[in-house]
Amino acid sequence: MVAIATKEIEPENPFPVLDYISPEYFCDRKNETEKIISAFKNGRYITLISIRRLGKTILLKHVLNKLQKDKDNRILFIDIMPTECLKDFVKVFSDAIIKDERSNRGFLEKISVFVAGIRGKLVFNDLSGIPSVEVSIADEKEAEMSINKIFEYLAAQKSKYIIAFDEFQQIVNYPEKNTEAILRTAIQHQHKDSFIFSGSSKDILMSMFSDYSKPFYQSSDIMELKRIDPKVYTSHIFKHFKKRGKIIDKNLISHYIDFYKNHTYYVQYFFNRLFEYSREEVTEKEARLVEYLILKEREYIYFGYRNLLTSVQFSVMTAIAKEGGVEQINSGSFLNKYKLSQPSSVTAAVNALIDKQMIYYEDNKYQLYDVYLEKWLKETF
Ligand SMILES: Nc1ncnc2c1ncn2[C@@H]1O[C@H](COP(=O)(O)OP(=O)(O)O)[C@@H](O)[C@H]1O
Ligand SMILES: [Mg+2]
Repeated sequence: MVAIATKEIEPENPFPVLDYISPEYFCDRKNETEKIISAFKNGRYITLISIRRLGKTILLKHVLNKLQKDKDNRILFIDIMPTECLKDFVKVFSDAIIKDERSNRGFLEKISVFVAGIRGKLVFNDLSGIPSVEVSIADEKEAEMSINKIFEYLAAQKSKYIIAFDEFQQIVNYPEKNTEAILRTAIQHQHKDSFIFSGSSKDILMSMFSDYSKPFYQSSDIMELKRIDPKVYTSHIFKHFKKRGKIIDKNLISHYIDFYKNHTYYVQYFFNRLFEYSREEVTEKEARLVEYLILKEREYIYFGYRNLLTSVQFSVMTAIAKEGGVEQINSGSFLNKYKLSQPSSVTAAVNALIDKQMIYYEDNKYQLYDVYLEKWLKETF
């Protein structure tokens, strides 16, 4: 779990890549922010969906950071990604509550009662002294009881909670098959609090929230996060170079936004490195060198993919990279061009690559997630 920034920090580099810092370093997303806040105010939940590394988590934190300014709101940010079962879910949820309570008076007493209620034990980190919960849950029934206890606890508080579940689709991988129903029922009774769900698996989330037979059916508005408007991103980047006394050509910025397919993380990371590397006047030569260094540093990992993937998978991935995206994966011309002889094995490879989250399907095209990997494959093979 990562803290939501409360005070404004001035970073050395104006293009943060690891976490949310403050509105100053967050680009745009004005409409999305307004829409999410308005949904909250009007008693609706939101499900935020996009491919990985486009900016969901950061947007969530930006929204929560704004909502946090209202002292009546209490914010829980819960990352579901590392959880594997309901027991883990109970732990991350409880830890978020403890973290939120920590600065309040009478914290220990209050939280001890809460922890006992969910059959947990409060443990303190040796070094930091930060408390967290150790949960001992034997079966699904006990897990359900603990979850209900958590929600009862929230309901008993006067404040309004805003609860964000990041990478929420992870719950469908739990061995407990009733998880969706258990959570849906608990959330449904939580009238005073708001929920936001977010995740990178479009198919799973779409099915969870828009499939008639599923517990979460139509329980929230679905928002598909798109790429940042390249013009707005260009101005944002330009402004921050200028603020730190560096001059950069706007055309150079838009070239690289386009070059990295406007995939936020890859663009942001590039400009973080270019900012670090350049002097007062940013040159094309410096940009090209940074571009090269980024690939060079990753080469070791990228070569490793040859061992992690089957040879057909690697060939298909390389072919998609070289094309910069492919519409018809089984078309004769594509298969011939890359000497992929068996359409059925290509289909199997594509499915495996999607499963491994190496490629995704969007805008009628199969594309690589990792834009740097795409560039590297194009150049190397
Ligand atoms: N609006 C934004 N302004 C600045 N940087 C952003 C923005 N959105 C995303 N980023 C950058 O992209 C990275 C990936 O975003 P993240 O929210 O973690 O993606 P997701 O949750 O969709 O996988 C962030 O760490 C940040 O560096
Ligand atoms: Mg995320």
